[in-house]
Amino acid sequence: MEYFEEMKQKFAALRTKKDVLVLSVESSCDETAIALVKNGREVLANIVSSQIDIHKLFGGVVPEVASRNHIKNITGVLDEALRVSGKSLQDVDAIAVTYGAGLVGALLVGVNFAKTLAYALKIPLIAVSHIHGHIGANYISHKDLKPPFLCLMVSGGHTAIVEVKDYCDFKVLGSTVDDSVGECFDKVARVLGLAYPGGPNIDRLAKVGKNNIKFNYHTSLAGTLNFSFSGLKTAVVNYVHTKQQKNEEFLPEDVACSFQELVTDELVEKTTLALKKTGFKNLVVAGGVGANCRLREKLENTCKNLGVNFFAPELKYCTDNGAMIGSIAFYYIRAGRGLADLTLTAVPTVRIDG
Ligand code: KG4
Ligand code: ZN
Repeated sequence: MEYFEEMKQKFAALRTKKDVLVLSVESSCDETAIALVKNGREVLANIVSSQIDIHKLFGGVVPEVASRNHIKNITGVLDEALRVSGKSLQDVDAIAVTYGAGLVGALLVGVNFAKTLAYALKIPLIAVSHIHGHIGANYISHKDLKPPFLCLMVSGGHTAIVEVKDYCDFKVLGSTVDDSVGECFDKVARVLGLAYPGGPNIDRLAKVGKNNIKFNYHTSLAGTLNFSFSGLKTAVVNYVHTKQQKNEEFLPEDVACSFQELVTDELVEKTTLALKKTGFKNLVVAGGVGANCRLREKLENTCKNLGVNFFAPELKYCTDNGAMIGSIAFYYIRAGRGLADLTLTAVPTVRIDG
């Protein structure tokens, strides 16, 4: 039988198979990650090889360096994932891989690795959206969580309020009109001289700072579900530069704290509006910025006041990892979506509702 016809049949059989073991590959940015996930919820192994220490030297991710390091690390990460899971490649039912969004050169390493594995093992290859993966992280941390729910998606690449109608049915209710919130955290961290990635360092520094600085900026999106962060980002950068040029003292921890309060207020305000408009009783946060302590605290309090249940992934599943891809891949399989052939390639952007 022709190769892809055989894959279609195997893929169809997985829609109803009792236990499905997915091996998932994630290489969209600077983490080389492979996981083994059973039935979308049970993580047997989740190995993440981070390149942070390398990219720190450059103040941000250098795409070419990321690709080279993925190539160097990926087979070791696979060996470790298999060892930790106690499974062999022959136990795996499908290979899932992030095909976008992300750095094309970095993604291509994972995509080609996954294609090779799937072809050699003669098992289906599932092309997964990185953004859907971030939402899937919540199914691992909250075993009873099921759609529909409202999701605040906050990562380095995306900022959006998403209606998750079903596991594979997404509707964007609002999104950023300029920078992502993660980008904004990283830029502010950089101007404060904090190491890459900036978000966790702002989070830490803000804890010892005061919310006592008024930045000079306006937003014009009040009352809508869209976000804008570039005005605030520029205002913070200008504040720091002006202080430095005038040789005036300022406390980086107060800048971090004041900035973080404004950003998290904006996220919480729009999320509250969306909850009120839609009437959802479950709110989920997803993406790297979802690890932010202050954001989690504010969302939790807001939800309590509104009588809404709040869900956030465990911290290790907030930032990029393979398990989140393996989780959502299970629901792709059950919905009959994502089967890819060997022409699969990497794409830099994907639609959340695509
Ligand atoms: O979801 P993610 O790991 O990668 C993308 O898909 O983009 O998100 C990375 C972003 C970075 O901008 C990083 O600074 C930010 O998430 N981040 C945080 C925190 N941890 C990671 N931002 C604020 N507070 C944190 N604790
Ligand atoms: Zn991500």
